[in-house]
Amino acid sequence: MEEPALVLKDAVVRYHRLTAVDGVSLELRRGETLGLVGESGCGKSSVARSIVGLQPLASGTLSVDGETVRAGTRRKAGDAQSRIQLLFQDPAASLSPRLTVKTLLAEPLKIRNVYTAERFAEIVALAESLGLGQQLLTRYPHQLSGGQARRVALVRALAANPSIIVADEPTAGLDISVQGELLNLLRSLRDRLGLSYLLISHNLNVVGRVTDRVAVMYLGQIVESGPTASLFREPAHPYTQALLSANLTLDPSRQRERIVLTGELPNPSNPPSGCRFHKRCPLAQPKCAADAPPLLAGTGARSVACHFPLVSAAPIPRQAIAG
Ligand SMILES: Nc1ncnc2c1ncn2[C@@H]1O[C@H](COP(=O)(O)OP(=O)(O)O)[C@@H](O)[C@H]1O
Ligand SMILES: [Mg+2]
Repeated sequence: MEEPALVLKDAVVRYHRLTAVDGVSLELRRGETLGLVGESGCGKSSVARSIVGLQPLASGTLSVDGETVRAGTRRKAGDAQSRIQLLFQDPAASLSPRLTVKTLLAEPLKIRNVYTAERFAEIVALAESLGLGQQLLTRYPHQLSGGQARRVALVRALAANPSIIVADEPTAGLDISVQGELLNLLRSLRDRLGLSYLLISHNLNVVGRVTDRVAVMYLGQIVESGPTASLFREPAHPYTQALLSANLTLDPSRQRERIVLTGELPNPSNPPSGCRFHKRCPLAQPKCAADAPPLLAGTGARSVACHFPLVSAAPIPRQAIAG
């Protein structure tokens, strides 16, 4: 099989005593869009920041195009990690307010020491193809609409010539119509430039629309992963089911099977024993409070970390077969 674009293995991210990411493994294949979903505070942005080198890994490994990036080191221009670009949750905040769009678009070329008038013309043409007309070049970030600011951030990211884009809540705060436009744009750029995406969102509608596979995160860990269509049709983890039903309340046929999440996301500095979801899980059994279920591979490229997966098509735990 072709080498994956990115492999994150057993990643741990800590902020002092708080373990925000606790043993997360992800594999991003070339040309695919992998979704990472979960409630606010579950550790998605920490995963994103560790992948781009803004936050060191306390342990675990990251490899990009088969090249291992040392955990805990900051990236340098030209190293494997520089092939990954992060699209921030808040694009306006990532654009210096005192610089014009023109300067902002030239910057990535200057940082890479590859600035030429010709290359810059290519970037401007790319911006134009994304609907950012020449007249915007003299504007400042505060003079841009939310959609325009995101596209400027996107062109800047592309000017760094990445092979992987990590997009952290790329559509947050945008009108539905602008969200759709941006998602279509991301998809066409992926196909045109051969990019791979890690798309982070708490919005399952967005993730369901544009991803090939999806990983569901709960309190610093992956609880379920698999091809998006199959996972959305038949979630195996009660948490995935709850997230999906929270998003599908407008669909009356789904109302009946709705699982309501009770309680808050627990504090990651003091996670519950056993399965981290057991206190909020409507289907929890005594075993769930005692033993942490491992993430086990099953049929149809699906994996789930649950002692009592929901659907019959759900993976059969290897332990169950062995026992
Ligand atoms: N710089 C930081 N210092 C301390 N705690 C942090 C920091 N950044 C995030 N956290 C904590 O780590 C956990 C995961 O946060 P984050 O990765 O931002 O989650 P998400 O992106 O899913 O909302 C949360 O409990 C959050 O409060
Ligand atoms: Mg976040």
